Amino acid sequence: YLKWSFLVLCMLSVIVMTWYMILPSHTVIEHINLMYFYEYEPIYKQNFSFTLREHLKCKDMNPFLVILISSQPMDLEGRQAIRVTWGSKKSWGGHQVLILFLLGQEAKREENLVALSVEDESILYGDIIRQDFMDTYNNLTLKTIMAFKWVSEFCSNTKYIMKTDSDVFINTGNLITFLQNVNSSDNFFTGYPLIDNFSYRGFYRKAYISYEDYPFKVYPPYCSGMGYILDGKLAFRIYEMMSHIKPIKFEDVYVGLCLTMLNVNIHIPEDTQLFFLYKINFDICKYRHLIAVHGLSSREIIRFWQVLLADTS
Ligand SMILES: *[C@@H]1O[C@H](CO)[C@@H](O)[C@H](O)[C@H]1NC(C)=O
Ligand SMILES: *[C@@H]1O[C@H](CO)[C@@H](O)[C@H](O)[C@H]1NC(C)=O
Ligand SMILES: *[C@@H]1O[C@H](CO)[C@@H](O)[C@H](O)[C@H]1NC(C)=O
Ligand SMILES: *[C@@H]1O[C@H](CO)[C@@H](O)[C@H](O)[C@H]1NC(C)=O
Repeated sequence: YLKWSFLVLCMLSVIVMTWYMILPSHTVIEHINLMYFYEYEPIYKQNFSFTLREHLKCKDMNPFLVILISSQPMDLEGRQAIRVTWGSKKSWGGHQVLILFLLGQEAKREENLVALSVEDESILYGDIIRQDFMDTYNNLTLKTIMAFKWVSEFCSNTKYIMKTDSDVFINTGNLITFLQNVNSSDNFFTGYPLIDNFSYRGFYRKAYISYEDYPFKVYPPYCSGMGYILDGKLAFRIYEMMSHIKPIKFEDVYVGLCLTMLNVNIHIPEDTQLFFLYKINFDICKYRHLIAVHGLSSREIIRFWQVLLADTS
């Protein structure tokens, strides 16, 4: 009996070993070749039409900063939390800040008659941008392209833009101060830097990318989608480049591809206590100092904001 199980084990390990030896080696490529994604003709230009577009928002004011927040149609709670906390103040020391939410079309129709419809919400708050693609995780790149298109077409007069997510806490005052002190240039792009992040082929679906979609071992330098900030003029150049570069499912990596193609280096903040990729527990000193922290619930955003406001020490 023992002998048999030993034999079976041996055979299994041989099978697994050969499987490992042939599987990964057949396609992965060590160095990025950007031409894999690039087309000379603008064949990747997206033609989704805006169903909500707030096109007059930037005309009357010259925004210093436009913050675009990726949000799911159903997540009214998340949007409300931001509207009453870090997105509530529109002017910081004379600098106009515009806060807008990025939505796609709701994937599954929920029979929820009590909740505010996105259309009504848009009339009420005037802060929603939406195009007619399906709002799903795999379509997040379409949402980011929409954001860059919107800025290019309707808000090219903004000094800076930031793209972030609805589970991010932002210390808006610090962000403004930070931007006032940077050396502005047409190539300015910053956030939480991810240099030499590996493409992942395991079983965790959210991080997985196929060899066909991305055959290279590492991603180009990019900043996490939890919050990247860039010069308003650079947004237009990235948007133009997007129509030549094949979209991949990670919107932040995709923007990184465009930046590399444009020869733009990301600015790595010297201070490592400004952007946090993962949630950090509430600590008044840290939260008074940081710019953005990722992974908070709406309740936490509201609670932390109230503590920050009340704190006068
Ligand atoms: C966009 O529209 C043009 C012409 O209207 C078409 O040739 C092109 O294939 C479309 N692009 C996409 C990505 O749908
Ligand atoms: C969006 O995502 C869904 C499912 O992930 C997919 O079926 C659909 O084709 C995608 N694209 C658009 C334009 O909605
Ligand atoms: C801005 O540029 C000047 C001169 O190039 C340099 O001395 C200074 O450190 C820079 N400031 C920042 C915040 O990068
Ligand atoms: C690296 O990229 C994957 C996408 O493949 C992403 O899910 C992951 O969060 C990135 N790594 C870090 C440290 O953020």
